[in-house]
Amino acid sequence: MSIAAQGLVVEQVTRDFGGLKALDQVSLEVPLGHVQALIGPNGAGKSTLINVVSGFLPAQAGRIWLQGERIEHLTAPERVRRGLVRTFQDVRGFGRLTVLENVVLGAHLHLPHGLSQPLTKPRWVREMVRRSQEEAERLLAEVGLLEDRDVPVSRLPFGKLRLLGLVRVMAARPTVVLLDEPGAGLHAQEAAPLISAIDRLRQRGVGVLLVEHHMSLVEALADRVTVLNFGQVIAVGTWDEVRQNPEVRKAYLGRGHAETG
Ligand SMILES: Nc1ncnc2c1ncn2[C@@H]1O[C@H](COP(=O)(O)OP(=O)(O)O)[C@@H](O)[C@H]1O
Ligand SMILES: [Mg+2]
Repeated sequence: MSIAAQGLVVEQVTRDFGGLKALDQVSLEVPLGHVQALIGPNGAGKSTLINVVSGFLPAQAGRIWLQGERIEHLTAPERVRRGLVRTFQDVRGFGRLTVLENVVLGAHLHLPHGLSQPLTKPRWVREMVRRSQEEAERLLAEVGLLEDRDVPVSRLPFGKLRLLGLVRVMAARPTVVLLDEPGAGLHAQEAAPLISAIDRLRQRGVGVLLVEHHMSLVEALADRVTVLNFGQVIAVGTWDEVRQNPEVRKAYLGRGHAETG
C-alpha cells in the first residue's frame, strides 16, 4: 500500500474559468476507510474539485490517482466503473420510480446490460436483477428506509431523499465516493441517519470526500479537513486544528460566514 493507502490522490490540480482560478494547484488525499472533508466559503472551488475529480470537467493541470493508477485521462463513466462515484449537490432521483427502483438503478452500474424489459431477458439476467433487488433491500434496511421501498421518490420527504442518494451510491459498490453537500437543507434531527450512513461507508473501507457546509457533520465525521479559499488550500488538519486556524476564521468571516465557530 501507499500512494495514500490506495484511495484517491489529487495532486496540484488547476482549473480556471476565463482567468478566474477556481482551483489553484489543489492537492489532497482520500485514503480508503477515511473521511476527508473539504470545506471553504461559497465559491471557494469545492464543487469544481468534485467535477474535475469525477471527470465532468477537464483540469488544465495536475494529476489524479485512484488505487495507484492515474485516472485524469479517463472519461466520467470510466471513472465510475473503477469505483469513483459521486453525488450531486442537487438531489437527483427518478421521481416516478420507487425508492427500491432508484437503488437498483444505482446498482445497475454493475450489470452488463440495462434493466429495461427484464422479462424478455435470459434467465441469468433476470437472476442478476433479482440479486440486485435483494442487495438494494439490504442497503435500504441498513439506513432505515426499507419501509419506504415502494414509495415513489417524488413523495419522499427531503431528509429521506438525501439518505436515498447515499444508498444509491452504496449500491454502486464504490471505492471512493465524492459527496457534494449531502447535508444541505437538512434539519439537525435529520442529520443523524446521514452521519451514520456515511460512517458505515467508511467502516466498509470506502474513502469519502465530504464537501459540506454543515460543520456539525464535518465535526462528527472528518478524519482530516482541507480548507479551500479562492481555489487555494489554506489549511489542512483535524477539525480541531483547522477551526482554530486564524486564516480559516478570516476566510469565513470575510464572506459573512461564521460557521466554523
Ligand atoms: N462552469 C463555470 N463557469 C464559470 N465559472 C464557474 C463555473 N463553475 C464554477 N465557477 C466559478 O468558480 C468558482 C468556484 O465555484 P464552485 O466550485 O462552485 O465553488 P463552491 O462549490 O466552493 O461554492 C466560483 O467563483 C464560481 O463562480
Ligand atoms: Mg458547491
